[in-house]
Amino acid sequence: MSLSSQAAEHPRLHQLSQTNQLKALMTIIRDKNTKRGDFVFYSDRVIRLLVEEGLNYLPVNDKEVITPMGVPFQGVSFQGRICGVSIMRAGESMEQGLRDVCTSVRIGKVLIQRDERTAQPKLYYSKLPKDISDRWVLLLDPMLATGGSAMKCIEVLIEAGVKEDRILFINLICAPEGVLKMLEKFPSLHIITAEIDESMDAQKFILPGLGDFGDRYFGTE
Ligand code: URA
Repeated sequence: MSLSSQAAEHPRLHQLSQTNQLKALMTIIRDKNTKRGDFVFYSDRVIRLLVEEGLNYLPVNDKEVITPMGVPFQGVSFQGRICGVSIMRAGESMEQGLRDVCTSVRIGKVLIQRDERTAQPKLYYSKLPKDISDRWVLLLDPMLATGGSAMKCIEVLIEAGVKEDRILFINLICAPEGVLKMLEKFPSLHIITAEIDESMDAQKFILPGLGDFGDRYFGTE
């Protein structure tokens, strides 16, 4: 079985429903000829779908309300509180999508870069909500390639008291190697993605991919 199929069948990898709409949106953002304005607009649409999907994995409690008809309705309400954590810089592109669906959501930031001396991901900066250990965390980074930065970030979250099974890692495109490595290292982690690609090149860019997400989104190409 190919690595992509193994990743796709993993019970903790949740891929958005492969509708024609999603395929069309992803085709636009993968196209090298797409201009920045459209890249941002259509990426934002996919990010919105991903955030909405992420919220589907949060636990709920039963809740009864009375409708304006005076009739009780047996519904549910979210059990816990959430926050976002974006991996700088590309993950910051996903913050607005989270704010659009969760009013006044708290958003932490983490900056991780490769240490040129050790070639390992190194934490340079983190600012997290003080009560993050009581929250569910939507971890935001658009491209999951090797998973190095995201795994380092999850270690930072766990050190801050976040329970591993309360972390939902949200990305637009993932490489199967990175997915399988992360899900093996963190046995309670869930990943939510739009599409699973084939592989990576020697520079660890995802193939077919969409190039450098941060550069295309923020206009720094
Ligand atoms: N980050 C990107 O922006 N693109 C890739 O292909 C991999 C990591």
